[in-house]
Amino acid sequence: MNRTPDGSEPTDAPWTVARVLAWATEDFRNRGTDSPRLEAELLLAHVLGWDRLRLVLERQRPLATEELGRFRAVIRRRRTGEPTAYILGQREFYGLSFRVDARVLVPRPDTEALVDVALRQTRPRFMSGAALDLCTGSGCVAVAFARLRPTWEVTGTEIEPGAAALARENALRLGAWNALRVVEGDLFAPLEPNERFDLIVGNPPYIPDGEISRLPSDVRDHEPRRALAGGADGLELIRRIVAQAPSFLNPGGVLALEIGCDQGAATRALFRAHGFVAVEVDRDLGQRERVVSGVIDAMMP
Ligand SMILES: C[S@@+](CC[C@H](N)C(=O)[O-])C[C@H]1O[C@@H](n2cnc3c(N)ncnc32)[C@H](O)[C@@H]1O
Repeated sequence: MNRTPDGSEPTDAPWTVARVLAWATEDFRNRGTDSPRLEAELLLAHVLGWDRLRLVLERQRPLATEELGRFRAVIRRRRTGEPTAYILGQREFYGLSFRVDARVLVPRPDTEALVDVALRQTRPRFMSGAALDLCTGSGCVAVAFARLRPTWEVTGTEIEPGAAALARENALRLGAWNALRVVEGDLFAPLEPNERFDLIVGNPPYIPDGEISRLPSDVRDHEPRRALAGGADGLELIRRIVAQAPSFLNPGGVLALEIGCDQGAATRALFRAHGFVAVEVDRDLGQRERVVSGVIDAMMP
């Protein structure tokens, strides 16, 4: 007698790829998962070691008992709220496949807006230069930028040694030789005092501490708290970065930071108060304010 993939109900019909997928999709949908079919396909393809196309081509193939057992174990992990990206061990960002695990925040599609701004800000200005990615995490921003600006030298800083190690691994795997320098420490602290950059980007933690408990459980219980919590009003790190960045920027250099969608006005005011001009806000895919950027006034002392 067969059982459903979660082991709960007996059934006589064979568990083909198509049937397992239909069952898992329905199960995820009932649990409120955003993209139930996609998650079911990604997880089953991962368990079988296939690409997603093969799931279509071999949809009538019955799963072996051992394959069903491995899929069951994956379903159990997902049901505890563990993000699919951690189970798969990878996540797509800016067309690149990054290794991810519980040491780092899962790269978000909205953060691609930060890379867009970095590319736009560097296109007309410099043939090459030095860029800094604060709070680099998995290295997704630094590596995506470095791949598209191969003549630039890219440095990442990250306070968690485990995350810094993963960022280095991603840079190496993805061939971003110019972004292999990831230094550990608090924001600018691990840099030499005389280092200067033409571009500083960052996606710091910016969620107000009091809102962490209201986040979905996949985020709250599984992603690193240090990647999320931005102090009482969420702006603690943003404030420190905007205040210190002018000392590390070359004249005319650019600072671009990802923000929470309701932090645009406060962050713009901080940029202006610290001598940034041409301050702009870019929106993410959902048209929410997501990236504030500005140019350090070359006349500032
Ligand atoms: C929101 S995550 C961003 C990760 C990655 N850049 C991304 O966009 O997916 C913030 C990262 O900043 C790191 N971090 C938190 N406080 C920091 C600090 N004071 N200095 C450097 N890194 C810090 C966290 O460990 C985490 O990896």
